[in-house]
Amino acid sequence: MINQASNILCLGAAHFDRTLQCTETFVPAASNPVRTLHRKPGGVSRNIAVHLRLLGCNVGMLGAVGDDGDGDQIIRSLSEIGIDTRQIRKIPGGHTAGYTAILDETGELALGLMDAEIYDRLTYDLLADQLANIQNWPWWLVDANLPTETLIWLAGQKRTSRFCAATVSPSKSARFKPLLDKLDVLIANRAEAKVLSGIEINDINDAVNAIKSLRDHGIPHILITLGAKGVISADDREIAFWRPLPTRVVDVNGAGDAFYSGFLTTFSKPGTSFDDAIGTGLAMASLTAETEGTTVWNIDNKTVQERAVTAFKEKI
Ligand SMILES: Nc1ncnc2c1ncn2[C@@H]1O[C@H](COP(=O)(O)OP(=O)(O)OP(=O)(O)O)[C@@H](O)[C@H]1O
Ligand SMILES: [Mg+2]
Repeated sequence: MINQASNILCLGAAHFDRTLQCTETFVPAASNPVRTLHRKPGGVSRNIAVHLRLLGCNVGMLGAVGDDGDGDQIIRSLSEIGIDTRQIRKIPGGHTAGYTAILDETGELALGLMDAEIYDRLTYDLLADQLANIQNWPWWLVDANLPTETLIWLAGQKRTSRFCAATVSPSKSARFKPLLDKLDVLIANRAEAKVLSGIEINDINDAVNAIKSLRDHGIPHILITLGAKGVISADDREIAFWRPLPTRVVDVNGAGDAFYSGFLTTFSKPGTSFDDAIGTGLAMASLTAETEGTTVWNIDNKTVQERAVTAFKEKI
């Protein structure tokens, strides 16, 4: 039986990531023969939603797709694993978002192209008639692909729902600046935390200063992820440092999103602590870094908890 408090609505990006590689010398401004290396579903909210669902949470997704094959496939793949997709808007004439990486013949990135225009269509005018449904979800995971005005509007409408911010990228993270005082949870990597705090983060001390400055906005729970160095956490009682769990690294892509899903799956359950949730976050980041791609499809709570219990904090 899923607990009511584990109902999480993920608001933001769900799209496809494609990687193509030139089979001959890359020539700019010309037609280049390529091979498709992969085409995989991605987007921060999608990545987090899928892991939350695989870990047993009751999950909804709110976003936008075009009226095209990619959009249909996104919706189908989410609903197939039991995610409620009724809040995903299909925009007539729109194109589903997507990231395309073009590698040259040596495997170096020649061009990265992100089409995220469809997310700009998620204005608060469009979402107004969904508000009652949105407010029914006690937990919101909101990614910075939504337009700034929509983020501000949502923060003003949250009532008892908890607003958990996912920063996405340094440039998009700035969208949370006007609503920092309304956030319940903020998780950012070091580059995104720099944009929000104004403090350059090169070591643990810098991260502590950044987290203190963010805490001054009144955010009750903040985490700054530091890649292979670990995590700095802050609540209203203490600031702590957590080392990453021992990991046989295969592919760190998506480790940040996985940290968020692990954290939320525990934090959204009654009777759990901030520290327990950080342990689950570290375990999910570690298991994802040991897996090719952003999703650990065969994940289960027992495996996650066995790793999570080895996490420990160092008080600062
Ligand atoms: N090389 C690594 N070894 C062990 N753990 C790692 C490594 N890289 C990342 N992690 C774990 O994943 C967490 C999140 O990583 P990171 O700070 O790089 O997030 P991110 O930049 O948001 O990543 P992404 O956006 O690619 O998912 C780290 O706090 C750490 O626990
Ligand atoms: Mg990230």
